[in-house]
Amino acid sequence: MLPIAELHLHLEGTLEPETIFAIAERNRVSLPYKDIDELRSRYAFTDLQSFLDLCYANVAVLLAAQDFSDMTTAYLDRARAAGVRHAEVFLNPQAHTARGVPLREVMEGVAGALSESLRTHGMSSGLIVAFLRDESEESAMATLEAVLTLDVPFIGIGLDSAEVGHPPSKFARVFERAQAEGLHRVAHAGEEGPPDYIWEALDVLAVNRIDHGNRCLEDDQLVRRLVTDQVPLTVCPLSNVSLKVVNELSSHPLAAMLERGLKVTVNSDDPAYFGGYLDDNFDALIEAGHLEPADLARLARNSIEASFADSRRKLQLE
Ligand code: HPA
Ligand code: ZN
Repeated sequence: MLPIAELHLHLEGTLEPETIFAIAERNRVSLPYKDIDELRSRYAFTDLQSFLDLCYANVAVLLAAQDFSDMTTAYLDRARAAGVRHAEVFLNPQAHTARGVPLREVMEGVAGALSESLRTHGMSSGLIVAFLRDESEESAMATLEAVLTLDVPFIGIGLDSAEVGHPPSKFARVFERAQAEGLHRVAHAGEEGPPDYIWEALDVLAVNRIDHGNRCLEDDQLVRRLVTDQVPLTVCPLSNVSLKVVNELSSHPLAAMLERGLKVTVNSDDPAYFGGYLDDNFDALIEAGHLEPADLARLARNSIEASFADSRRKLQLE
């Protein structure tokens, strides 16, 4: 099975409609949809914001560590079936602490499920604490300081949510603090935002990877920089179709990106909302005629090389 490492995955985006209803019932949370079909009927997005509104409304069902653990385990089981052997996953603590859920419940629930998956299935992982960029820099900094005080392992920080109007430079101090702590750093850039946001993520935030990065193709000098430095781009094809970043999969720039020597990887982003997990993304790309066998091997190798796994684990994954 080909997919190896998944590097761009939001845990909150893995909540399937059935799970949302099941956890809502368990926690006696009332949902604004009468049934699963009504919820599913809302999965027609016009842009990033229309998705974010639904996704972050649905996390209202998550209240206790068990809920966060169940969400994480369900993703890991499904990803394993897709051929994923190493997963680096985003979690947005602010989306939960803002609702009054204690940070410790959130972090311990997720981290417990990740370590259990390593123990039981040998599936390695890393937790990336992501900040909602439409919130203030102060809020992101306070969240970073709070997670650092907990005895819960995480490997890095990320930046997600509404991109346009919230440039990477807004979070310069937070990323500087994370770098001083020896944490890995990634940021969503160039999904809806301009190439300038990718430059800022590289030059101001000193990120190790760019999440999405599609719009780098509008700036030849930027492409040269990304190729020269072999900065990984975690591309999400089905997400791009669903959020209208591309018109259809057949016009997706993945093949062009590979062709230009960019270090791209394929990822599922928010699989419960965008029509599938990592295997579904690869199947759709193959169906659209985008990938040669050599490309598949390249993408698998890129996913290992672009991961934050240690060198011993990378050798095992090869
Ligand atoms: N972009 C920005 N924020 C997000 C995304 C995305 O694709 N998915 C979940 N949060
Ligand atoms: Zn994303």
